[in-house]
Amino acid sequence: MDFPLLLRSILLPLCLLFSVIQSRPYTSSQKIQLPGDSLALSVADFGATGDGIHYDTSAIQSAINACNHHYTSSSSICRVKFPLGTYLTAKLHLRSGVLLDVTENAVLLGGPRIEDYPAETSSEWYVVVANNATDVGITGGGAIDGQGSKFVVRFDERKNVMVSWNQTGACLGDECRPRLVGFVDSTNVQIWNITLRDPAYWCLHIVRCDNTSVHDVSILGDFNTPNNDGIDIEDSNNTFITRCHIDTGDDAICPKTYLAPLYNLTVTDCWIRTKSSAIKLGSASWFEFKSLVFDNITIFESHRGLGMQIRDGGNVNGITFSNMNISTRYYDPSWWGRAEPIYITTCPRDSSSKEGSISNLLFVNITIVSENGVFLSGSPNGLLTDIKFKNMNITLRRWSNYTSGLVDYRPGCQGLMNHSATAGIIMEHVNGFSVENVDLKWSDDNLNAWNVPLEFRPSTVNNVSFVGFSSGLLHEIV
Ligand SMILES: *[C@@H]1O[C@H](CO)[C@@H](O)[C@H](O)[C@H]1NC(C)=O
Ligand SMILES: *[C@@H]1O[C@H](CO)[C@@H](O)[C@H](O)[C@H]1NC(C)=O
Ligand SMILES: *[C@@H]1O[C@H](CO)[C@@H](O)[C@H](O)[C@H]1NC(C)=O
Ligand SMILES: *[C@@H]1O[C@H](CO)[C@@H](O)[C@H](O)[C@H]1NC(C)=O
Ligand SMILES: *[C@@H]1O[C@H](CO)[C@@H](O)[C@H](O)[C@H]1NC(C)=O
Ligand SMILES: *[C@@H]1O[C@H](CO)[C@@H](O)[C@H](O)[C@H]1NC(C)=O
Ligand SMILES: *[C@@H]1O[C@H](CO)[C@@H](O)[C@H](O)[C@H]1NC(C)=O
Ligand SMILES: *[C@@H]1O[C@H](CO)[C@@H](O)[C@H](O)[C@H]1NC(C)=O
Ligand SMILES: *[C@@H]1O[C@H](CO)[C@@H](O)[C@H](O)[C@H]1NC(C)=O
Ligand SMILES: *[C@@H]1O[C@H](CO)[C@@H](O)[C@H](O)[C@H]1NC(C)=O
Ligand SMILES: *[C@@H]1O[C@H](CO)[C@@H](O)[C@H](O)[C@H]1NC(C)=O
Ligand SMILES: *[C@@H]1O[C@H](CO)[C@@H](O)[C@H](O)[C@H]1NC(C)=O
Repeated sequence: MDFPLLLRSILLPLCLLFSVIQSRPYTSSQKIQLPGDSLALSVADFGATGDGIHYDTSAIQSAINACNHHYTSSSSICRVKFPLGTYLTAKLHLRSGVLLDVTENAVLLGGPRIEDYPAETSSEWYVVVANNATDVGITGGGAIDGQGSKFVVRFDERKNVMVSWNQTGACLGDECRPRLVGFVDSTNVQIWNITLRDPAYWCLHIVRCDNTSVHDVSILGDFNTPNNDGIDIEDSNNTFITRCHIDTGDDAICPKTYLAPLYNLTVTDCWIRTKSSAIKLGSASWFEFKSLVFDNITIFESHRGLGMQIRDGGNVNGITFSNMNISTRYYDPSWWGRAEPIYITTCPRDSSSKEGSISNLLFVNITIVSENGVFLSGSPNGLLTDIKFKNMNITLRRWSNYTSGLVDYRPGCQGLMNHSATAGIIMEHVNGFSVENVDLKWSDDNLNAWNVPLEFRPSTVNNVSFVGFSSGLLHEIV
């Protein structure tokens, strides 16, 4: 960084801070703010160029710090505004009381170099991260862009080969890339009216947070990039996601539990396309998942619709999936997923893992068109209990060229298993499965042997009830 710029980025914030302090003396009457009376600081006033070439990191960080100072002294939220421009940045630390306001014609561009994500462990690599913050968020109508394409070593329509930032020894394998946006150990988090695009790795990561609201957010990843997750919600309570649009390669909405349980996640009014699971619980699943609601969601041509990969002993209890249109199809088998519209599994990750159980699931008002059937697979000590399907139309039809006949237990477990038949619903280790008003239709295409409507091993499946279940050939109007 050249000297004048450095000077500017140090002096400007100081001046600004002064004017803030001078114009708003810390008297008790000043602490009462009317709605909308929050302070807004422009990153331009802190020396940001917005030219997309020079790093604006220190200018933006200074604006965030000044805003946070305002919040701690006045208790009112402060906006960091990005006017028209492209702001190249290394890792930024978002702080309490600060709203990043990336306006409609502004883009915050994550740096593509390893030194843009200083040391620490790879789990701390984000373009923007809030740690231990409260009343914090991102909005404005603009975009945050991770330049994920610069992390692709070889583009491949089946699956891109990605770089591994392994030089530092911070991590291994190909999951060695920075995430886009993270909120960690934070409360009262709001992310709305923003596009998050082209992340190098996971896109939006919510970790050990309470009271998070995500709405009117578009997440645009790369359909061929592995680990391009949409929203990962980890060990967090009271998360509300609505009106989201997610088009990406890996799991789109993915609750996980590593160190603590996850309670009260509600997702409504979303559109999703992914080459992995649209909604997936797990695979990290050491603690409980409880009270989750997914409503009014369209899942389009994804590799898997509603999934649970419970592998580490945590239990799942009380989940509702309602009012959905789901289409699932085969893609390359190097991706987890085999076109299952619904995939519920508890086989333990490895011989040392505990078996979690899954109970009290309701699937209601769901229309499915898919290339494979439903997979309900518990384990001897991880039963699937009280599963209900109500008002569902399932159409099984082939339209891609990928071969069928493999059953997917990954990760771990029995892996990909050869299976000659394609079943409408496979059940194993289930106790309590009630089917009410469900119609299952078969296409008579020649690509597939749709030869087993319902498949189960009686010794592991108990208390099954079918009321108003119909099955038959699909008569397509040509
Ligand atoms: C979190 O922030 C609070 C003040 O907001 C502070 O007291 C506490 O030490 C911080 N915790 C950590 C782990 O940084
Ligand atoms: C999103 O931001 C744009 C640009 O600032 C604004 O015009 C629009 O009203 C906002 N929409 C919502 C839903 O907040
Ligand atoms: C990462 O680095 C470690 C240690 O240098 C090495 O053993 C491993 O093979 C590397 N992995 C990749 C994917 O480059
Ligand atoms: C949750 O956060 C929002 C702001 O994001 C705030 O208005 C609301 O009061 C918070 N709710 C609770 C229960 O703290
Ligand atoms: C979520 O709630 C559970 C149960 O009350 C609690 O153990 C956990 O610490 C909470 N997590 C957060 C991030 O607040
Ligand atoms: C989950 O939501 C319920 C109902 O709103 C509330 O009573 C409970 O405290 C919440 N759980 C946690 C861990 O916040
Ligand atoms: C369902 O979600 C879509 C957006 O995906 C929205 O347009 C529609 O109004 C929602 N329907 C209901 C009944 O809320
Ligand atoms: C599903 O499709 C039907 C028919 O096209 C439509 O009426 C319904 O609103 C759709 N539901 C969702 C959640 O998109
Ligand atoms: C299933 O199809 C029937 C007959 O076409 C229709 O009446 C019903 O609304 C459909 N149900 C769902 C959940 O799409
Ligand atoms: C399912 O659809 C029916 C008929 O459209 C509606 O009355 C009912 O409220 C829906 N159930 C849920 C849980 O949304
Ligand atoms: C299936 O393969 C044929 C011949 O390779 C190709 O022409 C066609 O476009 C493929 N269809 C799909 C849906 O991929
Ligand atoms: C499945 O069987 C086919 C031939 O029957 C074989 O080529 C293939 O390797 C098997 N796949 C797996 C995953 O076992």
